[in-house]
Amino acid sequence: MPLGRNILITGGAGFIGSHVVRHFVNKYAEDTIINFDKLTYAGNLENLKDVEHANNYRFVKGDICNTEELNRLFEKFEITDVIHLAAESHVDRSISGPMEFVTTNVVGTVNLLNTCKAHWKNLENHVFYHVSTDEVYGSLGDEGLFTEETAYDPRSPYSASKASSDHFVRAYHHTYGLNIRISNCSNNYGSYQFPEKLIPLMIHNAVEGKELPIYGDGKNIRDWLWVEDHASAIDVIFHRGAKGETYNVGGLNEWTNIDLVEQLCTIIDQQLNRPEGSTKKQITFVKDRAGHDRRYAINADKLATDLGWQPSIQFAEGLRKTVDWYLHHQDWIEKVITGDYKAYYAAHYNR
Ligand code: NAD
Ligand code: TYD
Repeated sequence: MPLGRNILITGGAGFIGSHVVRHFVNKYAEDTIINFDKLTYAGNLENLKDVEHANNYRFVKGDICNTEELNRLFEKFEITDVIHLAAESHVDRSISGPMEFVTTNVVGTVNLLNTCKAHWKNLENHVFYHVSTDEVYGSLGDEGLFTEETAYDPRSPYSASKASSDHFVRAYHHTYGLNIRISNCSNNYGSYQFPEKLIPLMIHNAVEGKELPIYGDGKNIRDWLWVEDHASAIDVIFHRGAKGETYNVGGLNEWTNIDLVEQLCTIIDQQLNRPEGSTKKQITFVKDRAGHDRRYAINADKLATDLGWQPSIQFAEGLRKTVDWYLHHQDWIEKVITGDYKAYYAAHYNR
């Protein structure tokens, strides 16, 4: 891929997007990284303070559903490639309000695809990279892993909207020849994740002395990946992935929710000098999520074999670093938690 590209990253002010922006800004000085983000409750420029003055970084506030804003963006920055992360991303919110997910994840993605098609003369010269989730594959039983061949079986409004957007991206490849890549990744963890998701929510509540709400029996399984490893996988797939291909991204790192939260409690006891076992007492089993997928687990062999990608850190270390980061960034949490979030929390957890 030639240097000097103008790479549009959508959703760059969110959790994963901010790590992808940081990774590309720091690693590819010859490219210009344009972060286009609506700054919803989940998007925060606080996540990018360390790169906001970099020469090769630009931020534009805008909505992927707004065609005029996208046209202006593509003209002004002569966008050469897209890494698309902008989305509504929280399953619980998709259960209480699915339409927002259709609008942003489906309509917004198709709007972005159309903008690329309208502005790019030779589609071979441009990459459209769509970042998706393993949740499109549905829910696993005790055995087996999701591969790139697993049939789609989305079961939440969130995963249904992401599956739909994946289908549209593939359709634009097959119909119009758009040079696409898609990756489907497992649950990410690390710094700058909005504290409505499992790990930062538990750390935040633990510090505040609140309940640690575990849905159902706590035996649902997720496959956790260090967010910076996801950013490095996106880099590899963007630069070296094959046209039209899909890659699963994951770290072979399955945990039941209850085992994971108990580990967090142990680390928090140690880091806050609490008596051993005290944070665990905050664990509370609450009503299960509607349609709660039982198990996700990824087979990432294709990415390892074809492109040589491997995750870089062990879970125990990643979890310790994550707890440490949140404990030392209470000011960040206070800045990103708005009144809206407090209202959501009260309504969702009935607390
Ligand atoms: P996030 O909710 O933290 O961030 C989403 C970002 O998109 C926010 O900055 C938000 O302001 C922005 N956004 C939302 N609607 C927009 C719109 N209409 N126009 C422009 N920007 C808009 O999400 P995340 O966890 O960082 O996930 C990023 C992407 O990765 C999503 O596409 C998600 O489906 C996918 N993904 C997430 C995970 C995970 O574990 N979090 C795993 C696999 C894939
Ligand atoms: P989450 O972080 O919302 O990610 P996803 O639903 O996309 O996998 O949830 C991870 C797991 O944690 C999931 O099985 C639901 C569970 N969970 C709880 O038990 N309690 C909570 O308060 C939250 C937010 C999630």
